[in-house]
Amino acid sequence: MTTSLNQAIVSDIGVNTVYLNGEFLRPELAMISPFDRGFIFGDGVYEVIPVFGGRLFRLPHHLQRLHGSLAAIDLAPPLSAEQWRQALQRLVDEAGGGDQSLYLQVTRGVAPRNHAFPKNIKPTVFAYTQKKAFAAKNTQQSGAAVITAADIRWLRCDIKSTSLLAAVMLREQAERAGAIEAILIRDGLVTEGAASNIFLVRDSVLITPPKGQFILPGITRDLVLELAHKHAIAVQERNVKEGELSQAHEVWITSSTNEIKPVGSINGIAVIGTPGPMYQQMYDLYERYKQSVREGRAE
Ligand code: PDD
Repeated sequence: MTTSLNQAIVSDIGVNTVYLNGEFLRPELAMISPFDRGFIFGDGVYEVIPVFGGRLFRLPHHLQRLHGSLAAIDLAPPLSAEQWRQALQRLVDEAGGGDQSLYLQVTRGVAPRNHAFPKNIKPTVFAYTQKKAFAAKNTQQSGAAVITAADIRWLRCDIKSTSLLAAVMLREQAERAGAIEAILIRDGLVTEGAASNIFLVRDSVLITPPKGQFILPGITRDLVLELAHKHAIAVQERNVKEGELSQAHEVWITSSTNEIKPVGSINGIAVIGTPGPMYQQMYDLYERYKQSVREGRAE
């Protein structure tokens, strides 16, 4: 029963091999205890890493963030950077290279249910990757619909935690409103999307909320800022008031899965300048960067 259920899911998502605790397995053979604290408490952290041309995108940045999330929840990294690289690259290779999206998570492991951290248990490490066709520019031109919603999450949004109930509910709220993302508002300030970071453009200045406990330090966000600095685009990392959303000339969201996506409307009201010149410029810079990753000139 379990196997046939697993097989249905497996053929659905097209995953041939998963990594589980040091082993490379067919997904239907990967067994995780129901007493795993990832299942019981959501006691774990994760990463989503894009793959372009068979190469892991910004792997050192993702590993650094992963190790930061692990440190924040008092878990020692189960693998070294080199061990991560080897294991993840093997998954990517076995999936046949090309463009992929890789998911990995580390949970605290299996123990009798008790909230506080148990001693001397082994973390559970799970990863898989799947082929992904990243959106072409012309499909992004019109801009995506988003809504705003109260940021009902906790105060450690800088940890990439698998406890995602608030984000799940917020994304569902967006979908029910015919939107692709919920832009979150905390105390009158814009934080980020339920699963993305946010950028505004006003008078040719690129504006994004600062890092800290209220947002996830996005790897795509970092790259956009890096590219902006390199190409002399004016940047402000500062608090953004909710009211600035309707005054913005352009709005984008960024994430490993959505890359840089222009926002066409917020709560049904059009963002006038989308997709604007700054988006066009950043999209081209980002695509060029991706190309250098594909060719092994960057990572
Ligand atoms: N989410 N903020 C939140 C709350 C996120 O969940 C994500 C990514 C981001 C963007 O980070 P990055 O550029 O590193 O992907 C910002 C992933 C993609 C997810 O949960 O699937």
